[in-house]
Amino acid sequence: MRTCIVKITDVRSQRDVIEAAGNILREGGLVAFPTETVYGLGANGLDGEACAEIYRAKGRPSDNPLILHVANRRMVDSIALEVTPIAEKLMAVFAPGPITLIMKKKPHIPDSVTGGLDTVGIRMPDNDIARAVIRAAGVPIAAPSANTSGRPSPTTAEAVEHDIDGKIPLILDGGPCQFGVESTIVDCTGDVAVILRPGAVTVEMLEDVLGRVELDAALVGKEETPRAPGMKYRHYAPKVPLTVLEGDPEQMAQAFRDELGRLHGEYKQVGIIASGEVISSLKGLAQEELLVSYGDRGDFSAIAANIYEALRYFDERDVDCLLAEGTSEEELGLAIMNRLHKASGFRSIYV
Ligand code: TXA
Ligand code: MG
Repeated sequence: MRTCIVKITDVRSQRDVIEAAGNILREGGLVAFPTETVYGLGANGLDGEACAEIYRAKGRPSDNPLILHVANRRMVDSIALEVTPIAEKLMAVFAPGPITLIMKKKPHIPDSVTGGLDTVGIRMPDNDIARAVIRAAGVPIAAPSANTSGRPSPTTAEAVEHDIDGKIPLILDGGPCQFGVESTIVDCTGDVAVILRPGAVTVEMLEDVLGRVELDAALVGKEETPRAPGMKYRHYAPKVPLTVLEGDPEQMAQAFRDELGRLHGEYKQVGIIASGEVISSLKGLAQEELLVSYGDRGDFSAIAANIYEALRYFDERDVDCLLAEGTSEEELGLAIMNRLHKASGFRSIYV
């Protein structure tokens, strides 16, 4: 199949492209589109066959449910059996935005969306192109991140093309994604909200609205089975082993110099993803192209937006291993560290 990539700069004047995307989706085809978090690989969320195609295109395990993307409240009510007071509060404050709410599902939602669960993840993206496409399709859109299963999520149309080219008819290119990490997933079915995946809507922001929230046990200790099935897979994985250096920022640059020296002693080519501060202290100790800054230390927005691209960058380079600098786990840092820990398979050096 030939994959068409169309740059969208103005949703209104490019109405014909949006309509074409809506038609492909309504008729059971797949379209990749940008959201404010990462690019999604969409299908008609009420069409079990179309959703099954998503699993084939991504090589995704079939027990990993998809989330449904909606354009308005009416669509939420068409798929949720019940909108709990917690869900109401969160939607009022954070929707549209980078949050996915787990709710009890209505019976007509296909099993290929929910993996047989009686709940469904619902998300209203805050991105003009995404919302226009959903509206044009007229149905909720099932959309996982548009990467091959196990790879870092795509934050540019080029990354989508790299993974999915030839497997779908259309990729809408809306430029780089705003946040760069996937939505926060919150289970709203119980008496207390439970965060199943940290994201751009932070624990602190949720606590401001709800008072109390819990973190899924699997996010705190790694022994538990996560309640978001997808969180159990080694995700976001680069092609070579990744080690995260985390801890005291004061000691970080020295820790990188030590580890780099040790690995060079083993004749290893080392790729480094770190703050601008650490990268400038390593100049001259490694080839320029193997030193990637993900932003200034503490600039969580920049780090989140750049982290997946940095991991993908090194997939194209000849390196034996990667070192990445961890962040604190406050605010958006929790989501960044969650992705880094998963990308590294929890291989960390504590500095
Ligand atoms: O930001 C995002 O959420 C992006 C963009 C495209 O919207 N989408 C995304 O989808 O990250 P995906 O499929 O890559 O991740 C969805 C996660 C998986 O870990 C899945 O297991 C979990 O949501 N999930 C889906 N339905 C669920 C349910 N009913 N209960 C618990 N977890 C669920
Ligand atoms: Mg994903």
